[in-house]
Amino acid sequence: MFQQSHQKIIIALSKGRILNETLPLLAAANIEPIDDLKTTRKLILETTHPNIKLVILRATDVPTYVQYGAADLGVTGKDVVMEHGGEGLYEPLDLNIACCRLMTAGFAGTILPKKIRVATKYANITRRYFQELGIQAEIIKLYGAMELAPIVGLADIIVDVVDTGNTLRANGLVPLDLIAQISSRVIVNHASFKLKHEDIKSLLNILENQANTAFTQS
Ligand code: ATP
Ligand code: PRP
Repeated sequence: MFQQSHQKIIIALSKGRILNETLPLLAAANIEPIDDLKTTRKLILETTHPNIKLVILRATDVPTYVQYGAADLGVTGKDVVMEHGGEGLYEPLDLNIACCRLMTAGFAGTILPKKIRVATKYANITRRYFQELGIQAEIIKLYGAMELAPIVGLADIIVDVVDTGNTLRANGLVPLDLIAQISSRVIVNHASFKLKHEDIKSLLNILENQANTAFTQS
């Protein structure tokens, strides 16, 4: 079983809101960082499981680490996986955490020009989305505060994640069209999934049970 595992496994976790929801799921599998995450400056962390280490990364870097096998598996948002493209990754498990919607948003009642300007940090998703709709779109890549772009005339609309809608409302914007429902996913490197199948499968089973329990209780 998992506890007797001899294979080394590196798990890549996303900093920020996903981390807070992922740590209890891992703790249920008796995988807890030994150092205090609030104070440590270490980038690779030992855990209470002798063969499992954690790396804690910007969410957008998680698929890259897993794709290249620098981490065997990772946890990140579906939005981030879609933007990455998913090359070299399996996506075996939906953890049902950090749920939100990826949407277009803008001013209510805006009449859009023939070629629209869209501000987003999701440049690949946005390009694909408007291509499929046959709409000409100039993508303006931003790294945050997307909601500001329509207000200052930088873009006609934005593509961003929406949860409560408070950020849009506070900036006088409304959600327009749904692009995708988002939640956090476990992603696994193709080669690791074959070579470390038993251990990874056991870990996925534990995480799945935990995620289902948390989902039923919420
Ligand atoms: P980065 O560090 O690369 O800038 P980020 O600021 O998007 O990443 P978080 O805000 O922690 O990092 O978001 C991580 C993930 O959580 C997102 O990719 C998305 O899947 C989900 N998420 C983002 N915003 C919300 C939200 N308001 N409510 C619920 N889930 C969200
Ligand atoms: C995310 C997203 C929106 C907001 C949506 O920002 O970029 O601004 O959440 O959530 P809401 O619909 O509940 O208001 P976040 O809080 O993660 O800040 P950041 O991405 O700018 O760091």
